Amino acid sequence: MNYNNIIVESADHLAVLTINRPDQLNALNSATIAELSTAFKALENDGEIKAIIVTGSGQKAFVAGADIKEFYQFDVAQGKELAAKGHETLFNLVQDLTTPVIAAVNGFALGGGLELAMSCHFRLASDNAKLGLPEVTLGVIPGYGGTQRLAQLVGKGRAMEMIMTAQMISAEEALRFGLVNHVTTQEELLDTCKQIALKIVKNSPVAIKSAIKAINAGYTDGVNGFQVEIDEFGTCFGTEDFKEGTTAFIEKRKAAFPGK
Ligand code: COA
Repeated sequence: MNYNNIIVESADHLAVLTINRPDQLNALNSATIAELSTAFKALENDGEIKAIIVTGSGQKAFVAGADIKEFYQFDVAQGKELAAKGHETLFNLVQDLTTPVIAAVNGFALGGGLELAMSCHFRLASDNAKLGLPEVTLGVIPGYGGTQRLAQLVGKGRAMEMIMTAQMISAEEALRFGLVNHVTTQEELLDTCKQIALKIVKNSPVAIKSAIKAINAGYTDGVNGFQVEIDEFGTCFGTEDFKEGTTAFIEKRKAAFPGK
């Protein structure tokens, strides 16, 4: 598949998806959102890919937000449509993928950029990264899930302060808040993400899918996460991966999971 705004590379069961508009600090215009949506769906359905890393091209930005130049003349209906479409085609899609997705935040992650990182299953940042939701400086609020996911990740009080002040926080502060899991130098960021992804890839893909579903269920309105955990736990017992994992333990060898 040929893309104009993103680059997709894969090796060793890992895909690296790079948002590639460096002269616009990788801002998310509608074409980029559409390409990301297509690429994520293709990777989810690619049996060879067991983890996905998302990053931005260049030294400066992960993603500096939704493309302001594209929406600044929108009216109420268009604004609502922009947010609703974004939720559906990209941000909820990424959150609900059953292939693990790691954000490698390599610089500015602002507005839609931080929202994309927060849709990923977890995040690492380089030590130059700056993270924030500055939408109120533009007279608007985060519209790609930021008001919800930031509060889930850092707590309501910190989310209120970050969104109302529009201040960017440093990678170290993001680490302290639990918004990112690790901070590295920019040079080491992708390799560190890959090392973590390779640890994931060794484990049962079907169990990982169940774990993602169960964890996400706890953050879904009207769904009982504990019940989803019970159901997914039971489902695992019917899989070949469960037979292989438990048999390998009994036989004192490493499991070779078929992923079924
Ligand atoms: N939407 C559209 N274009 C953007 C953008 C965005 N969110 N963020 C950056 N760009 C563009 C700039 O317009 C500029 O393009 P130009 O050279 O064609 O004018 C280019 O990217 C470089 O950005 P610039 O502002 O010159 O870089 P800087 O180093 O001076 O500042 C930022 C970096 C991130 C502080 C600044 O670009 C910024 O504040 N961006 C908007 C952040 C934001 O509000 N995001 C939330 C959007 S909802």
